Amino acid sequence: QTAPVLTIDGPGGAGKGTISRMIAERLGWHLLDSGALYRLTALAALRKEVALDDVERLTRQAQRLDVVFAVEDGAMRILLEGDDVTRAIRREEVGNAASQVAALPPVREALLQRQRDFRQAPGLVADGRDMGTVVFTDAPLKIYLTASAEERAQRRLRQLREAGEDARLATLLEEIQARDARDMQRAVAPLKPAEDAVELDTTQLDIPEVVERIETLLAERG
Ligand code: C5P
Repeated sequence: QTAPVLTIDGPGGAGKGTISRMIAERLGWHLLDSGALYRLTALAALRKEVALDDVERLTRQAQRLDVVFAVEDGAMRILLEGDDVTRAIRREEVGNAASQVAALPPVREALLQRQRDFRQAPGLVADGRDMGTVVFTDAPLKIYLTASAEERAQRRLRQLREAGEDARLATLLEEIQARDARDMQRAVAPLKPAEDAVELDTTQLDIPEVVERIETLLAERG
């Protein structure tokens, strides 16, 4: 008996994180933030000064990733080798490194089983780039969430400002476009909608509207 999975894939900044968290909370399902695993691998590499093209060492790091996802007062804390890196992995520098590391097939392979282990009763919401196309191909509902690059850059800017960081819109837009291109053009598990995915463009939708649409689709398929 495998637990149901709702996959939510799409480019960075489309709202996957927030939406996935809200739906998981409302359903009482587990949550997989697969991007965090790539970010953790990248952060571990940056800290140990492992080159981002040293496939062998990066793969070993991904295999041995000592990570704990802990829920504390309703908020998710992420520990890497016992060190709280919840905020550190969200930095742009780490996101860009993650997207480089994520283009390496052996690294992806090393993280595959770890991701599948999150599938437990009563269900899982899986957020990423290849949840529907590679990791959980049999998911009963697959969502592909998008928004225009400009809108995503605006959202990222707001997020960063709320976290007390500063950034320029033009720089963020360039980074988003570069990361989209890298994620979509890589040879292995490129970012694209699964054939059976439902595409939702969130440029003009607010968060409650997106949550409601996904819950309606889930209820129809449940
Ligand atoms: O979603 P997030 O921005 O945290 O992901 C960081 C990077 O990790 C992405 O740019 C992408 O390259 C990679 N990633 C991936 N496959 C996933 C999730 C994230 O390749 N399932």
